[in-house]
Amino acid sequence: TEIDIAAEDLDLGGFPHYMAKEIQEQPESVERMIRGRLDDRFGVARLDGLNLTPRELRGFSRVKILGCGSAYYVGQIGATMIEELARIPADAEAASEFRYRNPIIEADTLYIAVSQSGETIDTAFAVEEIKRKGGRVVGLVNVVGSTIARACDGGVYLHAGPEIAVASTKALTNMAVGFALIALSLGRVRDLSNADGQRIIDAIRALPGQIKAVLDDEPAIAEHAKAAATAKSLFFIGRVRGFPVAREGAQKFKEISYRHAEAYQTSELKHGPLALIDDSLPTVAIVPADELADRNLAAMQQIRARGGAVLAVTHENVDFGELDVPRIVVPRTEPELDPILLTIPLQLLAYHAALTLGYDIDKPRNLAKSVTVE
Ligand code: AGP
Repeated sequence: TEIDIAAEDLDLGGFPHYMAKEIQEQPESVERMIRGRLDDRFGVARLDGLNLTPRELRGFSRVKILGCGSAYYVGQIGATMIEELARIPADAEAASEFRYRNPIIEADTLYIAVSQSGETIDTAFAVEEIKRKGGRVVGLVNVVGSTIARACDGGVYLHAGPEIAVASTKALTNMAVGFALIALSLGRVRDLSNADGQRIIDAIRALPGQIKAVLDDEPAIAEHAKAAATAKSLFFIGRVRGFPVAREGAQKFKEISYRHAEAYQTSELKHGPLALIDDSLPTVAIVPADELADRNLAAMQQIRARGGAVLAVTHENVDFGELDVPRIVVPRTEPELDPILLTIPLQLLAYHAALTLGYDIDKPRNLAKSVTVE
C-alpha cells in the first residue's frame, strides 16, 4: 500500500534523520494529542470519537488491547494504566497471534486496536474478527481514514502527524497518552474520584514540558549509547509499569542497531536469565521511584556482583546508596504515567547507538514502515 504523504512532510527540517526529527517533535505532538480533550470541571477526558455513552463505558467489565510490535508493547503500558485508574481487568495481546487462535469475543469487553499506520494487516484482521463475532472495537490510530480507523466502531486519533522513520517514536508516545485518556474515561464512570481525575489531568498537561526536559539530556544519553553500542547483546529489564518500557526499549534498540537486545521482567532474572550475566552483557534497568524501587536496586546489585554493567533509567529521588551505576534521570510524573517519560530516553539510546554503528537509521534492513502483506 502506498501511503500518501505531502511533500512538506518529507522535509527533514535540518535534522539528519526522520527519526531524530520525530523524537524532537514529541512535545508538540503530545500537545496536539491532548488539545481540547481534557475537562477540568469533571476531571475527565473528552473523547467523543469513541462513540460510547457513559452507560456503555460503565458496562464493560474487561478491556483487551490489540496491536503489533511496538504498538503491542504500548498496549501493555495502556493495560496497566486502565487497571490502575479504572480497576477493570485489562490486557494487551499481539494482534498477529490473536487473529489465529479463534479468540473468544465477549460482549462486555471493550476491544482497542492500536496502530500508527492503521494499515497493519494483522491488526486489521483482528478488528474484523472481533466485529464478525459481534464485539465492540475502538481504534487508537494515527493515520486518519486508514483501514483500521474506518473499520472500528469509534476511536481516538493520535494527531502525531506523519511518521516516516520505520522506528516509531512520536506515534507511540501519543498512543501511551491516548491510553491515559481512555483510562481516565473508564475510571471516571467508576470509582476514580474527581480529585484523582484532576491529578492525572494536571500530570498529562505537564508532559510536553517534561518530554522537552528529557530531550535536553540528549548529549549525555548519546554518551551512554556509545558504550551500549560496543556490546553484542543487551538486557533491558523492568517490572510492572517498567516491563513494557523495557520491551519497547529493547525493540527500538534491535530494530536500528542490529544488536541482540532482550527484555525481561526484573523479577524473572533469578529464574533463569541471570545465568547469562557477565562483563560482556550489559543491562539497561528501568527503575522508577515507585514501591518496587528497593527490589529493583537489589536486582541491580546482583547483576553488578556478577560483573555485569548496568545503566539505570530512573528518577532523581531513587536512593542508589552504595550502588555506583550510570544513570539517566527523567522527571517524575504521577506514577501511573511514568512509562510515558521513561520510554523517551530509550528512543535516544537506540538512535545514538545506531548512529555510532553507522547504520541506516530511517530504513533498517528487513523492515517496512507498515506490514500490509501476510
Ligand atoms: C516500531 O518501531 C516498529 N517499526 C513496529 O513494531 C510497529 O510498531 C508495528 O509494525 C506496528 O505498526 P502500526 O503501529 O503501524 O500498526
